[in-house]
Amino acid sequence: MCGIVGAVAQREVSAILLEGLRRLEYRGYDSAGMSVISPQSGLASRKAVGKVSALASALEASPLPGTTGIAHTRWATHGQPSERNAHPHLSGDIALVHNGIIENHAALRERLEGLGYRFASETDTETIVHLIHHYYQQQRDLLGAVKHAVTDLEGAYGLAVINAEQPDRLVCARKGSPLVIGIGIGENFIASDHLALRQVTDRFAYLEEGDIAEVAPGHFRVWNADDEPVVRDVNQIDTAAESADKGQYRHFMLKEIYEQPSVIRRSLAGRLGSRKVLTEALGAKAGEILKNIENVQIVACGTSYHAGMVAKYWIEGFAGVPCRVEVASEFRYRKFKVQQNTLLVTISQSGETADTLAALRLAQTLDYAATLAICNVNQSSLVRESDLFLMTEAGPEIGVASTKAFTTQLVALILLTVAIGRYHDLDEAEEEAIVKSLHALPDLITETLSLDDDIKKMSNAFAEKHHALFLGRGVQWPVAMEGALKLKEISYIHAESYPAGELKHGPLALVDSDMPVIAVAPNDELLEKLKSNLQEVQARGGQLFVFADKAAGFEESPGLDIIAVPHVDEIIAPLIYTIPLQLLSYHVAILKGTDVDQPRNLAKSVTVE
Ligand code: F6R
Repeated sequence: MCGIVGAVAQREVSAILLEGLRRLEYRGYDSAGMSVISPQSGLASRKAVGKVSALASALEASPLPGTTGIAHTRWATHGQPSERNAHPHLSGDIALVHNGIIENHAALRERLEGLGYRFASETDTETIVHLIHHYYQQQRDLLGAVKHAVTDLEGAYGLAVINAEQPDRLVCARKGSPLVIGIGIGENFIASDHLALRQVTDRFAYLEEGDIAEVAPGHFRVWNADDEPVVRDVNQIDTAAESADKGQYRHFMLKEIYEQPSVIRRSLAGRLGSRKVLTEALGAKAGEILKNIENVQIVACGTSYHAGMVAKYWIEGFAGVPCRVEVASEFRYRKFKVQQNTLLVTISQSGETADTLAALRLAQTLDYAATLAICNVNQSSLVRESDLFLMTEAGPEIGVASTKAFTTQLVALILLTVAIGRYHDLDEAEEEAIVKSLHALPDLITETLSLDDDIKKMSNAFAEKHHALFLGRGVQWPVAMEGALKLKEISYIHAESYPAGELKHGPLALVDSDMPVIAVAPNDELLEKLKSNLQEVQARGGQLFVFADKAAGFEESPGLDIIAVPHVDEIIAPLIYTIPLQLLSYHVAILKGTDVDQPRNLAKSVTVE
């Protein structure tokens, strides 16, 4: 989704801003722009539709000299992708970039037009810059004007503003959309994600909800939502933990699929004893809170929601605790009753997903016993605002399609299942068996990754298809859902998933020789039932592709392709069966020639609802 970078330095900043935008490209966007203040010629901007490379060409043709600047990648919400809608937006000598959505933009536009402002774009953002300009005319102070303007805004924003009349500073503000200050020596930066600034600094101060900051080359000052001066902690980022390049791989997605054994090892490190899960890893307060939990409510979006769906089977099946799961965009707008002693669990790779954050904030106004975030980003809003957190330790996930974040979320959810189950139905022997399975997991994933060549061959059967159906039963149904989501988002093939038992209640009508049907079939108690469902498909000429346990007794026949998956324990089967589905969607996308790491219309971090 949209990205912001800003710099106030004593050297030229346009190359720094451009590199920052490149580092944010993975988040998804459809246009880019930059404004820089030059002491000689004042404020100037360049914009381009499409990739950051198009903006780079525009800058090469017509450079932007200057030591203070802001830049942006825009993911269109109000108004189509175009140069005039791209940020920065201008009002007189003031330029502004914005992430988020201003909900009262129509009323503000009317008011500003009444004051004589003429709008150059269709965006909600342009109202903010005119509003700031309006207040600036009254007080000639950019900081004061921004502080005044944000009180008129309804909605979400992370914003950064520069003013040619005060060229030595930048003002930024956050509410509902993250911003971080990158601290240099004699220069400072801001960005919507610290990754954008890793080329210039490893020291960061994260702004909190409602903060406004004034950033100058030698210092920065922050005021909180009550306009009190505050000091935000400076964090030093561990360079070794962050490697955001593709290495030997053609795409980030493939790299991230192959990283799964090592990141799962990392996410288990320090959390597993030889026979027990070390629940202290959930934080000092965890034991005290979890022992009273009688219900679990999981809220998440997309792939993270699928992780929650898997966890429901574990939390009810192993821990014996009732568990509900809901997509955040529904949960936050629905009336419901909170069961007694319910733990609210949010799951999010980014920790900045607008709907998931809103769900957490809603829950904090209700009668939940506690909130727990399962998240991949340390300083994210979700982590900072939850009572407990369990980091997934997947490292930066750059491919828009989530892979290693999903499997590490599943690992965290197994740990949570044990931590809660201990106070309910899970006995010591069962815990010991789960711990044993978890110790074996990284190597079993490596073994499963060795199926890659066979899966690549299988992918040829999908390249010309327009639809695909994914089937699973029990805990493998959400795995099938995740497989369908991966295929549709990176290959643009329409894919649906069903619990296999539902086939004959409708979707069977879709099955013919043009409809590949993919099934995940571990050797579990539902195997025989799944086999009957698959026979229904074969009998109707459907082409079946089954990822089956070696011992499941499937045999290849015309219309039935089998890939044998290692035999694994029940609890880790969802992680193992996810791997071939990730590889399948990757290879199909390669054959279709799509943009694997940045699929069209999608964003890595969905910070607007
Ligand atoms: C799909 C995908 C999305 C995200 C969803 C939630 O591959 O990545 O469906 O899972 O946008 O994002 P997070 O987990 O950051 O809250």
